[in-house]
Amino acid sequence: MKKYNLMQLSEAELLSQKELVRLYAKHINPGIGIFLRVLGFDEYKIVKAEGMYIYTECGKKILDFSGGMSVLNHGHNHPRILEARRRFNQNKRLEICKAFISGYQSVLAKNLAEIFPGDLQYSFFCNSGAEANEGALKIALLFHRPHRDKIIYTDIGYHGKTFAAMSVSGLISRPYKELFKSMDGCLEVPYGDIGALRRLIRDRESSGQNDIACMILEPIKGDLVITPPKGYLQELSTLCEKNGIILIADEIFTGFGKTGKMFGFEHEGIVPDIVTFSKSLGGGKASIAGYIVKPRIFEKTYGSLKNCTIHTTTFGGMGEECASAIEALNIINDEDLVENARLQGEYLLAKMKTLKAKYPRYIREVRGIGLLCIFELYNTSEVFGKGFFKNIPHIDDFLLGLIPAAIVSELFKKHNILLYTGGREDNLFISPALIITPEEIDIFIEALDKVLNGNMLRLIMELANNLIF
Ligand SMILES: Cc1ncc(COP(=O)(O)O)c(C=O)c1O
Repeated sequence: MKKYNLMQLSEAELLSQKELVRLYAKHINPGIGIFLRVLGFDEYKIVKAEGMYIYTECGKKILDFSGGMSVLNHGHNHPRILEARRRFNQNKRLEICKAFISGYQSVLAKNLAEIFPGDLQYSFFCNSGAEANEGALKIALLFHRPHRDKIIYTDIGYHGKTFAAMSVSGLISRPYKELFKSMDGCLEVPYGDIGALRRLIRDRESSGQNDIACMILEPIKGDLVITPPKGYLQELSTLCEKNGIILIADEIFTGFGKTGKMFGFEHEGIVPDIVTFSKSLGGGKASIAGYIVKPRIFEKTYGSLKNCTIHTTTFGGMGEECASAIEALNIINDEDLVENARLQGEYLLAKMKTLKAKYPRYIREVRGIGLLCIFELYNTSEVFGKGFFKNIPHIDDFLLGLIPAAIVSELFKKHNILLYTGGREDNLFISPALIITPEEIDIFIEALDKVLNGNMLRLIMELANNLIF
């Protein structure tokens, strides 16, 4: 008799979708379970994912336009990533052992130094984007210790949900931040406003507080698809350099080709002091993140024997994760996925603009850079008038997101296309893998055209009915 009644992997694979959904709601997160049900995402058991497609047990083939929120630049289960992992495992390579240098880790760091511009040279690896940003903030603060301890961040930036990362995320995009007391010493500026940044730095200096250690921002705001005014990044970079402020660029969402350049900051040709990365670095299979930093910062902080273990993590740079990342970078290079993102992004945006012209009632604005695109929609009250849905229970909490949610749900149920909303509920976020073809873009645009041309009120009412629980 075994002590615990554990389910076997083989049993897990045979469970029905209904049972899997029940276990999720009971043991992971019932609220998220409800959202998935409302959108119709919980109905199908997913059995396979390959390239641009996800396959259900009942034979549905779903075109994935979500791009896994930037994790899937290579598409699902890219054959070269699978092969790299198979070879690693077949040869029983060493996964982790602190006594030996990992060849995979060393080569990955060398390749990253090759890809990043300027003298960005030393890499640190970890598992999540938030953790990468924590590490970047720590090294910047240590560099300036004990004289400077303040961090500038922007109002719309998102840097993760751990404590420091949340403290430097903007309140506008993450209202839940108010539920927690932020870390001391974090100063917010409006994104894209160079005057505000200049004033903040000048005011602190003139009051004798030359205490700003670093600034963190997303050079291009990924999940809202917001690019700064032309020249902003260059001026910001010059301002930081002149004032000894370490510039941290968060490329977790936008990195590795998504914007039609390898990194978002390259659209203005700047070289930040530290860059954080994650998501697509793992080729859609490995959870790997990290930062890369210039030697003048690394050598002063962790460069000595005494300080070399100040910032480490148990799972930082596992063998298979690093092997996957080496292959992921080579695929981007060999298949020129960055150029494909630029070309297909232009094609996609042009098609989106035709939909905007055709459906001015629903679409407020379209924006895009590379394969990061967004439809900003009018909210439900603007389309149907205030108070239109007032008799439906729970509806007030969801008014902003009702039209996008109705569209997402219909695209999935009727047209087998997967999308998410982006950083705001009133957005439709279009960010497919970088392997996308023009034919797949046409399929998506045609389907969206049909949904927008249909009976939106009926779709909203169906959704609202599902909210009554
Ligand atoms: C720009 C940016 N930074 C940081 C993060 C946090 O990454 P993680 O969820 O892996 O902690 C995200 C996640 O979406 C992100 O988009």
